[in-house]
Amino acid sequence: MKDVQGKTAFITGGASGMGLGMARAFLDAGMQVMIADIDAENLKKAEVELQQGGAKVSSVVCDVTKEQSVFDAADKTVEEFGKVHVLCNNAGVGAGGFFDELSQSDWDWVTAVNQMGVLYGIRAFLPKIKSHGEGGHVVTTSSMAGLVNSGAGWGPYNSTKYAVVAMSEVLYSELKGINIGCSVLCPGAVATNIGKAGRHRPSEYGKSERKLIVSGDGSAVNPLLAKGLNPNIVGKLVLEGIQQDEFYIFTDPRLQSSVDRRFERIKRGFEWSARSRALVDTNSPGSIKDGA
Ligand SMILES: NC(=O)c1ccc[n+]([C@@H]2O[C@H](COP(=O)([O-])OP(=O)(O)OC[C@H]3O[C@@H](n4cnc5c(N)ncnc54)[C@H](O)[C@@H]3O)[C@@H](O)[C@H]2O)c1
Repeated sequence: MKDVQGKTAFITGGASGMGLGMARAFLDAGMQVMIADIDAENLKKAEVELQQGGAKVSSVVCDVTKEQSVFDAADKTVEEFGKVHVLCNNAGVGAGGFFDELSQSDWDWVTAVNQMGVLYGIRAFLPKIKSHGEGGHVVTTSSMAGLVNSGAGWGPYNSTKYAVVAMSEVLYSELKGINIGCSVLCPGAVATNIGKAGRHRPSEYGKSERKLIVSGDGSAVNPLLAKGLNPNIVGKLVLEGIQQDEFYIFTDPRLQSSVDRRFERIKRGFEWSARSRALVDTNSPGSIKDGA
């Protein structure tokens, strides 16, 4: 979507970090913006700050884990701005711990926000973007953790971030030829409040009792995040990605080597399979040599 002037964007997780950075960049480019967040207090503060200078911005409290809440936010966006063109599925949280330590509610919470929240965003907004025929764009915030293993204790976060890369790749295929672009944002470290994600863990998901890697006190990741990229730069990068219709948006080109290493391991798996006696040394029915 080259011409963004006067177009409307909806951003989840818009009260903080990268969502707020996107809002700033979009408003600077002459767009109208609806920021949505579960954190009503910070959302209001962000809206007031963004409105300075007469920018066309509004806010809606929205919990992306509740489908109705996302549909209501979509209706409010169209009521206020007439149309919506850009959807940024950006809200995200993390809970860390080993597989045999994490509770069902740890998995449920992270999956509900990071994966189901993205699904609800697409379901609520895509029909509205399609309806006006002016084109649009869907950006989903994944992570480098959506492409490579982040290491021990990152099960729920890594899994949901891989899931939304896959969802975005499929969505890209489904949107081909209808003037609606699709991108997946895969940031490296960015200086945001994600290390304190546990502050927004709803009581229905209980409290985690383990030392958390990402959620709660975020002790293991906060020093890394503090040295991360400025989220306002990420906002500008996302705007550029939308205007140039780029699918993969990376915030740290130096991390390409981590993806190369993953693909090397995958290639080694294929090479091992090609030598496997079970697969290769047989002519029996249903074998590869038999034409399977
Ligand atoms: N900061 C990083 O280094 C980094 C790296 C890779 C990916 N990410 C991803 O970037 C995205 C944005 O996170 P951030 O780093 O800006 O963190 P952040 O904590 O500063 O912002 C996230 C926002 O999401 C909101 N939120 C949490 N649960 C919600 C819910 N149920 N409904 C609506 N809003 C909710 C929070 O209130 C917060 O305002 C996330 O998807 C995160 O996983 C962050």
